[in-house]
Amino acid sequence: MDYLDLHFSEIDSTNNYLKNSYKLLNDFTFVSADYQNQGKGREDRIWLSEKGANLLFSFLIKNKTLMDNAPILSIVTACEIAKMLEDNGVKNVSIKWPNDVLVNDKKICGVLLQGQIPDYLIIGVGLNINQKKFDNNLRRPATSMANELKKDINIDAIKDNLYKDIFTNLRCLNKNDYYNFFDQHNYLLNKRVRVMINGQPFIGEVTGIDNNFNLQMVCKDMLIHIDSGEVDVL
Ligand code: BTN
Repeated sequence: MDYLDLHFSEIDSTNNYLKNSYKLLNDFTFVSADYQNQGKGREDRIWLSEKGANLLFSFLIKNKTLMDNAPILSIVTACEIAKMLEDNGVKNVSIKWPNDVLVNDKKICGVLLQGQIPDYLIIGVGLNINQKKFDNNLRRPATSMANELKKDINIDAIKDNLYKDIFTNLRCLNKNDYYNFFDQHNYLLNKRVRVMINGQPFIGEVTGIDNNFNLQMVCKDMLIHIDSGEVDVL
């Protein structure tokens, strides 16, 4: 088995493409684009990216075993991105649970998980590679591989390696391979945070992640496990 690699110079959103075509496509179809005119971020935000400067891709999951692990797939994807960044010499890489990849305090990559279980799952990745300037009004300041490494990067080479790693490692997923890596790159560790759960704010200190990659925090002397949500550092 191998993966399919589709590319568009312009598209609405690579996640949308897979959402509209999943019935005709196989597990591990990858689709990338130089430019998205309706790029989407989490929480209905817009994902803006300079044309041809960054790596924008999504891949499709249709097999049941992987869909049963849906919540951790985006975390594992973030770990693969973080590993690739370190392999390329980027320093101070961390992962803000569940799946933002940061360098120092700046965002270099975001992951968007969408789907309709049991039919399909889509994992979309926006990785800043050669973009040098970013909007000052972003929720969190952004950076790129080029800004960190002080040189332009070959996007296709990064893409080929990432596709291979994601295909190889997610197809035969071993969660334990990622647990320590995440733990060592946990941006939120020991930070005081606020998480919204069903509209209720929970404030506490992050102590780590559990075996299912849920975020653990101490809140009013109780250890709580959080399986999804946006976390703000206080
Ligand atoms: C986030 O909010 O951090 C997630 C951003 C995900 C952006 C990527 S770019 C490729 C794929 N297509 C989209 O429309 N969004 C994702």
